[in-house]
Amino acid sequence: MSNISAEIIRKYLNNNDAEIKVFDCIDSTNSEAKRAVEAGLCRDAIFVAEKQTAGRGRCGKSFYSPSGTGLYFTAVLHPETGLGDATGITAAAAVAVADIIVEETKKDPKIKWVNDIFIGKKKVCGILAEAVADSDFSVKALIVGIGINLTTEVFPEELADIAASVGEIDRNKLAGKIFVKLKQFCDALPCRSFMEDYRRYSLILGKTITFSRNGIDYTAEAENISDDGSLEVVTDKGEKMLLNSGEISIKAK
Ligand code: BTN
Repeated sequence: MSNISAEIIRKYLNNNDAEIKVFDCIDSTNSEAKRAVEAGLCRDAIFVAEKQTAGRGRCGKSFYSPSGTGLYFTAVLHPETGLGDATGITAAAAVAVADIIVEETKKDPKIKWVNDIFIGKKKVCGILAEAVADSDFSVKALIVGIGINLTTEVFPEELADIAASVGEIDRNKLAGKIFVKLKQFCDALPCRSFMEDYRRYSLILGKTITFSRNGIDYTAEAENISDDGSLEVVTDKGEKMLLNSGEISIKAK
């Protein structure tokens, strides 16, 4: 796979003057981006690494980030929205990645609520969006971390049955195109127009899912994902529930 290059990423940015930082090896591009924002970075920026030694996932999990076989990418964005609207960036990022996988591969990516991208039955991409808030609770920056397995063939044992790779895509092009799409979606954060596509890409709508809340296990139908990203389900006891976060599984038939 060709090397990551700031110069080549820039060619795909449609004249956006975002700062681009490329690392051979870093603990986590999200952590590095956060450190940069806390040290005063106030422009939009892209952080990309060949390899992460402490890639972070949601719910305190790690993200497997071996050298040269994936895109480990973080966008630092400054949308002019309050924290409420800014939370939509997670869904927006999932749609951005799915759109670009379709454009570049013609494969059929699906979004597993909240924001994992699947091809077939396996996860190929995870997204970790974080906000850095100002002292007045306004959004100082959004840190949108995206990890895509591209040509990783061998996964650690605990991931072997659940993770897969998309196949080779030029990482510079992928990073540039994802950033441009994220910037477009930033303008749509207040109206959430990208949620229509989010629902279209959904892996779970209409399916039977299982989840646990407050120590209770539930089986339910996934009925709708509202524009604020919450999942509306009806349990097998007929109870309507609204899920805002957390893990769900698709029930095996
Ligand atoms: C998940 O699967 O729960 C989210 C994984 C997010 C991984 C990406 S890789 C680039 C960025 N840096 C990190 O440490 N995490 C995100």
